Amino acid sequence: MDEADRRARETEAQMTDDERFGLLVSVMGTNTAIATRDERIPEGTPMSAGYVPGVPRLGVPPLLMSDASLGVTNPGYREGDTATALPAAIALGASFNPALARAAGRMIGREARSRGFNVMLAGGINLARDPRNGRNFEYLSEDPLLSAVLAAESIAGIQGEGVISTIKHYSLNVNETNRHWLDAIVDPDAHRESDLLAFEIAIERAQPGSVMTGYNKVNGEYAGGNRLLLEDVLKGAWGYPGWVMSDWGATPTWEFALAGQDQESGAQIDVSMWGEEPFTAPLRAALADGRLPRERLSEMVRRILRSIYAVGIDAWDGAAEVDMAAHAQIALDAARQGIVLLENDGVLPLARDTSATIAVIGGYAQAGVPVGTGSSAVTPPGGYAAVIPIGGPGIMGAWRNLFLLPSSPVEELRRLLPGAQIDFDPGLTPADAALAARRADVAIVFGVRVEGEGFDNADLSLPWGQDAVIAAVADANPRTIVVLETGNPVAMPWRDRVAAIVEAWYPGQAGGRAIAEVLAGAVNPSGRLPVTFPADLAQTPRPELPGLGTPTGTPTTIRYDEGAEVGYRWFAARGEAPLYAFGHGLGYTTFAYEDLDVRGGDTLTATFTVTNTGERGGADVPQLYLTEPRRRLLGFERVELEPGESRRVTLTAEPRLLARFADGGWIVDGGEHRVAVGASAEALVLSAAVELDRRAL
Ligand code: BGC
Repeated sequence: MDEADRRARETEAQMTDDERFGLLVSVMGTNTAIATRDERIPEGTPMSAGYVPGVPRLGVPPLLMSDASLGVTNPGYREGDTATALPAAIALGASFNPALARAAGRMIGREARSRGFNVMLAGGINLARDPRNGRNFEYLSEDPLLSAVLAAESIAGIQGEGVISTIKHYSLNVNETNRHWLDAIVDPDAHRESDLLAFEIAIERAQPGSVMTGYNKVNGEYAGGNRLLLEDVLKGAWGYPGWVMSDWGATPTWEFALAGQDQESGAQIDVSMWGEEPFTAPLRAALADGRLPRERLSEMVRRILRSIYAVGIDAWDGAAEVDMAAHAQIALDAARQGIVLLENDGVLPLARDTSATIAVIGGYAQAGVPVGTGSSAVTPPGGYAAVIPIGGPGIMGAWRNLFLLPSSPVEELRRLLPGAQIDFDPGLTPADAALAARRADVAIVFGVRVEGEGFDNADLSLPWGQDAVIAAVADANPRTIVVLETGNPVAMPWRDRVAAIVEAWYPGQAGGRAIAEVLAGAVNPSGRLPVTFPADLAQTPRPELPGLGTPTGTPTTIRYDEGAEVGYRWFAARGEAPLYAFGHGLGYTTFAYEDLDVRGGDTLTATFTVTNTGERGGADVPQLYLTEPRRRLLGFERVELEPGESRRVTLTAEPRLLARFADGGWIVDGGEHRVAVGASAEALVLSAAVELDRRAL
């Protein structure tokens, strides 16, 4: 037993039952939707997503919880409070840069702490299984290793500042359609090899204080009431010592306490969804008549206390210094490293001394850059450039807006290309856009999409007729550059007619600047796709998404029959070529890979040389894949190289990526395995065979 466990035991033993029950429910602060302050929140407490009273006489601090992964959010909770707004998590995924994830986490931790928040609802790690999932922008990638490595760094960054981080949403909360009534069906062993493996590795590496469950059911049981996932896997097989909190409004019954959930979150939403707060009166009644064992109550409390002590939120000695200029730099670095150059026939980069006429078309590029909607949206310093209400059915409809962050791509382009004549056209119709494109030397057309929590996208198209606008611009001007600001892959019916395509995701508060820098060549693009771009939905595991379009509240079952073969693994297994492969991304220089040396035995280690063979410095992300018996990303490293410079890179495989999960354990099959080094899951350059020993992990 470690020190945190010992202290948790000691404190819990001294608590009254009222104090114990107090720790088991979080209530939401007042905001634009909740007008009355819950009496459990003392006056003067900063309002946010969750408040849990402490036990002052025993030195247990109250828990003040806020979202999270993209910066400290403020959905109407605190007047005038703004914070550094990072790019979407999928853009962080595209950086393939663990050090950047660590810096982003530290930044979030410091800004949280300076506001008094000691629990960040961060660590979104659900795998991108479906390109329609409205929340993929909040998650890192489709790959368990990449997601786990980056999530762990971000969580460790937050917790290193003395702030607890969650990891979420456990598990398979990978579509938003009817999320409270969605039953996600998956083969349990394949689950261990995919989404659960991402959680397992990230939890091992970063020890997040809390795990937040998903809204959905997994194989028939709600995630929060899923004994197999919580008791058997998380707390049993993995020995997780922290606490399990529900998502907001995801506790329909006190009985979830018997299946492993330790805390109910967002109690007001439970009242509106299910008619009561299950972890207050019903849980007390269950203790009173013996349905809830007293030992289980104590354990729930001890788990919360243990994380408080392990992360040290009881020992704060004042707020950390917050250097907003340094944080703005992190947001800028993240935007720069997350942008992916998908296609370039040589039109990019634009010459810095150009005197060309440039038509910038559409996407509100004169105003700013979009963010994903929902609980993760951060209000940046200075506020939003614009908030355009979108609306929609269900609980999240009222929260669905197109938020624009005030870093205008048009203004930033004007700053970087002072000799150019830059005209903005809103791209209202294809005909208007074509007129603007025709009178310019170069056309830069923006495609934006509103995506967010509570909604899946119906298909892969851009909204508001933007695909037709882009096609018309491409027809009018052969030097057309498309900049996408989306949270997911989109179809590109105009792809063969344009000169360059840039995927900028939701690039955060410095997004306009980073986009301009990439277009003007001030920054050499280095982002790599953290998700596969399919040519169309027919190539994906679920051409039809069950439940899409049914009224909120309709019970929905989605079968994730692709199992562990998510994303690029699915494409490799089926022998299909995607539109753009996982790991793909171009730059303004070129890289070569040579001299692959692979060692087998207990695990697998590959060493190879990367050389910058181009004319300018830049970053590359060579990737190591297992190719036989099946495709798995085994390792990656982001390397910065000057022209002509070489580096030997060594990558060692996490053994579970070489293994199968079967009969309750991991097994590496003995014999020959094949690996390859490449620039994407499809562009494999070097390959080798290696013998592995058979072993159980
Ligand atoms: C989201 C969580 C979030 C919580 C608190 C929920 O709607 O699913 O990710 O942490 O709200 O804001």
